[in-house]
Amino acid sequence: MKFISKFLFTLTLVITVVLGQHLKDVEIEAKVNELLHQMTFAEKVGQMTQFSGTNKRYEQMIREGKIGSLLNVIGAEVNNRIQKIAVEESRLGIPLVIGLDVIHGYRTIFPIPLAASASWDTVLIRKAAEIAAKEAASAGIHWTFAPMVDIARDPRWGRIAEGAGEDPFLGSAMTRAQVLGFQGKSLADPLTLLACGKHFVAYGGAEGGRDYNTVDISERTLREIYLPPFKAAVDAGVGTLMSAFNEISGVPTSANQFTLRKILKGEWGFDGFVVSDWNSIGELVAHGIAKDRLEAGVKGLTAGVDMDMEGRCYTTDMEALVADGTLSDGLIEDAVRRILRMKFKLGLFEHPYIDENLQKKLILHQDHIQTALELARESIVLLKNEKDVLPLNRKELNTIALIGPLADDKDAPLGTWRCQGKQEDVVTVYEGLKNKFGDDVKIIYAKGCDVKNNSRSEFNKAIKAARKADVVVMVMGESADMSGEAASRADLNLPGVQAELINAIAETNKPIVLVLMNGRPITLSNIESKVTAIVESWHLGIQHGNAVANVLTGDYNPSGKLTVTFPRSVGQIPIYYNHKSSGRPNNPSDKFTSKYIDLPSSPLYPFGYGLSYTEFRYTGIEVENNRLLSTDELVVSVNVKNTGKRGGDEVVQLYIRDMVGSVTRPVKELKGFQRVALEAGEQKTVQFQIPVRNLGAYDLDMNYTVEPGEFGIMVGGNSVNVLTTTVEVVRLK
Ligand code: GLC
Repeated sequence: MKFISKFLFTLTLVITVVLGQHLKDVEIEAKVNELLHQMTFAEKVGQMTQFSGTNKRYEQMIREGKIGSLLNVIGAEVNNRIQKIAVEESRLGIPLVIGLDVIHGYRTIFPIPLAASASWDTVLIRKAAEIAAKEAASAGIHWTFAPMVDIARDPRWGRIAEGAGEDPFLGSAMTRAQVLGFQGKSLADPLTLLACGKHFVAYGGAEGGRDYNTVDISERTLREIYLPPFKAAVDAGVGTLMSAFNEISGVPTSANQFTLRKILKGEWGFDGFVVSDWNSIGELVAHGIAKDRLEAGVKGLTAGVDMDMEGRCYTTDMEALVADGTLSDGLIEDAVRRILRMKFKLGLFEHPYIDENLQKKLILHQDHIQTALELARESIVLLKNEKDVLPLNRKELNTIALIGPLADDKDAPLGTWRCQGKQEDVVTVYEGLKNKFGDDVKIIYAKGCDVKNNSRSEFNKAIKAARKADVVVMVMGESADMSGEAASRADLNLPGVQAELINAIAETNKPIVLVLMNGRPITLSNIESKVTAIVESWHLGIQHGNAVANVLTGDYNPSGKLTVTFPRSVGQIPIYYNHKSSGRPNNPSDKFTSKYIDLPSSPLYPFGYGLSYTEFRYTGIEVENNRLLSTDELVVSVNVKNTGKRGGDEVVQLYIRDMVGSVTRPVKELKGFQRVALEAGEQKTVQFQIPVRNLGAYDLDMNYTVEPGEFGIMVGGNSVNVLTTTVEVVRLK
């Protein structure tokens, strides 16, 4: 009896909640309809128009209902003032939705997304997004143009810094975490942000890794590699998406009915709205598919872009086209409906203004800074550690030579898209080491060179410092402006004369710990053998220096794993782990197989790779059932033991391979990962439960299916060193 009453209570609760949400949605639709029917044509296209910044002209346009959204207007006071014009001085009082690029923090700056993804810690990443939302919302922001979910397989592309690397499964997990973090439990909560999955779609596939360049991919690659993180965003309830600058095989994404209407709004049933990227509708003229802005606007709207960011293409000039039947008014109504729906969901009609006292309580709160340190530490990847030079043993150390252009740099840690991040908030590596060592260890600092220019004038001072030291810590890499938008690089070596400085310091025969600060994989083959250890620290945000010092001193055991492949040479690009076999898979001992004659075909560091100060041993991979139907669950377990002398976290990764399909399949695909903490000597059995349906792909006829046959199952601490077994997927007779 007790069970039944408990069941009925739960059922009632679920029905109430679902029904409650449904009633709210019905209520919102009624309000949208009511408002829509009062709007003039000019007010409708006004809602579809977004401008950057504000000024007297824009304020007058807001009064006239000609602007529906602003971006890059920052601060509770100014946003409340502008909002007051929209709400209290325009005819219908429709509030503005105000957007900003809050990519990896508002004022408390977290690691750049490529770094954060190396933590594989979706819980912490969600928490960081929640914090970013609180800080930005307290400053009057309603909407962030994040998460950036573009899969990137080409590190020449500067925007690889803004995403979660090369894998669709990991990228989807990171996307979900950020959307849930930004949007919280309810968009009506004044301290959450409307999120925006961008850039829809395949922007990272630019030829040559050159930003804004042509993308030419098959529908299969589009659906299996580039779309999944956007589907994850939609499944997580993302309220908006942003269309991109690039074309896909001849059709620009901001005029692409196949991706926007057929897939996004059709197959996926997306009910939020799509904003263009900056003037990406207007750029249809440069793409050569529109003769002028009016035609560009028609193409963007017809394809399914609902709001025009800084493009000035959605104007009252369209009214004549509606009148003569060239353009359907229904398209405009649908766009406005989607925009109004989000404004109602945001609660902007009920609460258009933000409490101006919140900013000073929330921004740069100590708890936020602590979270920034935690995520920064987890984002660091130990790539090399010979002679156990790390962790630095303060008892044995007298003097450290700290050398390099980024060792005491307050700008690089903020990375690209730093929002309101300020250098004054940054802890540099130099400061972090001083915080750690105090007066116990002498630190001789010598910059040695700059990031970009070729001056060698400070080499000698750096060499002298090295000669006096027990160990040399060199902090080198890229400045923040060398990654992000419009920052593609054709040469991925350390910029300037940094490699020369490493070679010069290596001549002193002192152990060198190279700490990298970069927004993309860089090629290290020319210096890798000259250094004893390599710590990949990316651009970690305001706590960069403390995080690096925690790792160098062993106060934190590094656990990060690469989410993007590090090539040996730029000549290998594109190079990624989930590649196809080809008919002649690489075999170094057979000339006539896929390879280079002047370089090994393997990467310098593979996807999923990262060392620890301890060792983890994998044994006993097992599947619960090795004959499965597509409706079953694949259950895989493996024993992971910490065989070292200290505790540590390990990211256990599960890959699969469909051995024979109706089309070629990647040699491996990530389908699961778990972070596990293990004390010295501790062993845990890690279990994965994966719906067999997740092992599917698009078959010869482009239908998503799980084809029967043998699947390889691989588990390990990176994508190369794995234990393997197999399962058989069978079809019901
Ligand atoms: C930029 C970027 C986009 C950003 C937008 C607004 O060009 O491509 O990611 O959200 O403009 O700043």
